[in-house]
This record gives sequence, structure tokens and C-alpha cells, in this order.
Amino acid sequence: MTAKKGVILSGMRPTGRLHLGNLFGALDNWVKLQEEYNCFFCVVDWHALTTAYEDPGNIRENVKEMVIDWISCGLDPEKSVIFKQSDVKEHAELHLLLSMLTPISWLERVPTYKEQIQQIEGRNLATYGFLGYPLLQAADIMLYKADAVPVGEDQAPHIEFTREIARRFNHLYEQEIFPEPATLLTEYKVVPGVDNRKMSKSYNNIIELSISPDEISKRVKMMVTDTGRIKKNDPGNPHVCSVFSFHRIFNKGNMLEIEESCQKGQIGCVQCKQIVSDWMKDHLQPMYAKRRELEKDPQLVWEMLQGGREKAGKVARETMEAVRSAMGLA
Ligand code: TRP
Ligand code: SF4
Repeated sequence: MTAKKGVILSGMRPTGRLHLGNLFGALDNWVKLQEEYNCFFCVVDWHALTTAYEDPGNIRENVKEMVIDWISCGLDPEKSVIFKQSDVKEHAELHLLLSMLTPISWLERVPTYKEQIQQIEGRNLATYGFLGYPLLQAADIMLYKADAVPVGEDQAPHIEFTREIARRFNHLYEQEIFPEPATLLTEYKVVPGVDNRKMSKSYNNIIELSISPDEISKRVKMMVTDTGRIKKNDPGNPHVCSVFSFHRIFNKGNMLEIEESCQKGQIGCVQCKQIVSDWMKDHLQPMYAKRRELEKDPQLVWEMLQGGREKAGKVARETMEAVRSAMGLA
């Protein structure tokens, strides 16, 4: 085996079943990274509580569903450390110790803080936990001395914040304990939903990774096309059509051909949708099969997480020894 390049950590809040947006926006990239890096993938269940504390629902069930999706699309517990944040208590200890040296103003000026407080209505987010969200994330990253963090653009300020905390720690205690992690921006692919807006749970327009092959055809039939097109031979405008947005992502090689046939009225929407739906079936079928296996025996998921907990815990304990010693506790 060749030596891996460096340490990568990323995390996702357990929101239950994932969708195609998560696959193309993050997971596909994670699956590739695990070949070259020492990867840690963390289900951040404590982070889920920072916004959902009043009505947590069933976080445990969501963890299970999300991990099933992770494994189904190719994350491999043999190659990567896949674990749950709340299983490794050192995340909480590091968060606490870092809080001693974190100026409140640094947290208040993280752009996501103000935005989210305004956007997420109906919840009281003027909490200590929510203000500290980026610091808990910094602890997740620093605990494994990650060199890089693959995230979407929206998370970049949190990684920047992590670098500042790492720098401050190293400077205060005159030790190079923590690397300053790089942001590994995931190539930004906006996956459209069935209504051609961005695919998002809050828009109710998603296609789940766990969708059955039969359900795929139905969902694709529902997709919004060029509504100005009445007859099959009418010239169409693919650029207002969600089906074409899917061709762009999934069927790149034939995209120009489809575009032209649509504009010239040579291809009908039914046929055009059929191509997308066949592609999706081919692509998602293996995931579906893998999911069925794991659903039959969910205990396997908990065992995998247990294995991840042990591997992550070992690294976390080592880091904490150095941190305690740097801070005069040991
Ligand atoms: N805040 C991230 C998100 O909402 C989730 C997250 C928590 C994370 N800890 C992390 C991402 C550590 C990367 C690294 O998407
Ligand atoms: Fe959309 Fe295809 Fe119909 Fe054109 S032919 S409007 S791209 S579904």
C-alpha cells in the first residue's frame, strides 16, 4: 500500500435520507478522496441538536439512515474512519478547552451565524450552543489534525474560523500541535430538483438516493419541462426545463445533441425523460441493492460505527493528551 497523502475530515448533520444533491455535492467527492487520503467522516449528531434541540425527533434513526446512504454510495469503513461525533467524547472536551481561548466576537462575526439566526424562523437560536456551532466544528476538525476539509462554499467561513483558532492555540502555547486545515472546495454542482429549483429538502423537490427503480420513472414523469411546448414537434426551450438540467449533469456526453433535438422539435419530452430515467436507474440500482442489504440487518450499521468509534477514539485520545499538557492540565 502506498502512503496516503494527508488527513481529511468532513462531517454531515444527520438529517435522515440523503438525496441526489448530497451525492453530487459531496459524497461522490468523499468516495474519491478516500483512495488518497486518511479520511475521517463524522456524523455530527451534536451539531444537529444546535438547531433542533426543542424538537429533536429521532436523531438516532436519522443517523442510521444517513450512514446507510453513505455506505451504499461507496464510503468504505475499511478505507475510511466512519463514526459518530457523540461516540467520541473528546469532541466535547476539545470544544470546552478551545472555548477558553475563543473571543466571543470571533463567533459573532462568522457570516453563517447572523444569516441563519435571521433565516431559521420559529426557533430560538439565541443559544450558547448555536453561537458555538463553528467552534464545535473546529474541534471536530482539529481533534484529528486534519490537513484539509472538503466542503461546499457555504462552509468555507467555518474552515477559515478553524484556521484562526488553530493559529491562536499554537501561538498561545508555543507549540505546533495543530495544522491549519485547508478548505477543499467541492466543485459546485447545483443539482436541480424536480421543479428545476435547487434540490433541497425544504423545497420538497428531492430525489432520494434510496428511491426504488419503479419510483424513479414516476418521479421523472412528474418533472417540469418547457411548459410552452404543447405538441411533440413544437420547438422547445431546454434551458427552462428540469429534465434538461439533469441531462447536463448525468448525460454530459449527449447534452448538445439533446439540446439541439429539443430546440428543433425532433425529440419528444416523453422520450427525453426516458433517457434520464434509464440513466438514473443504472446509476442508482447498485446503491439500492446495497441499501436493501443493510436495511435487512441494521445491526451491521451500528457495528460499523462502533469500529469507527474505536479508530477515531485512538487518534482523539492522543491529541487530547498533547492539548491537556499544553494547557497545563497534565
Ligand atoms: N457544519 C457542517 C454542515 O452543516 C457539518 C460539519 C460539522 C462539518 N462538523 C464538520 C463539516 C467538520 C466539515 C468538517 O455541513
Ligand atoms: Fe425538456 Fe427534453 Fe422536453 Fe426539451 S425535449 S422540453 S429538454 S424534456
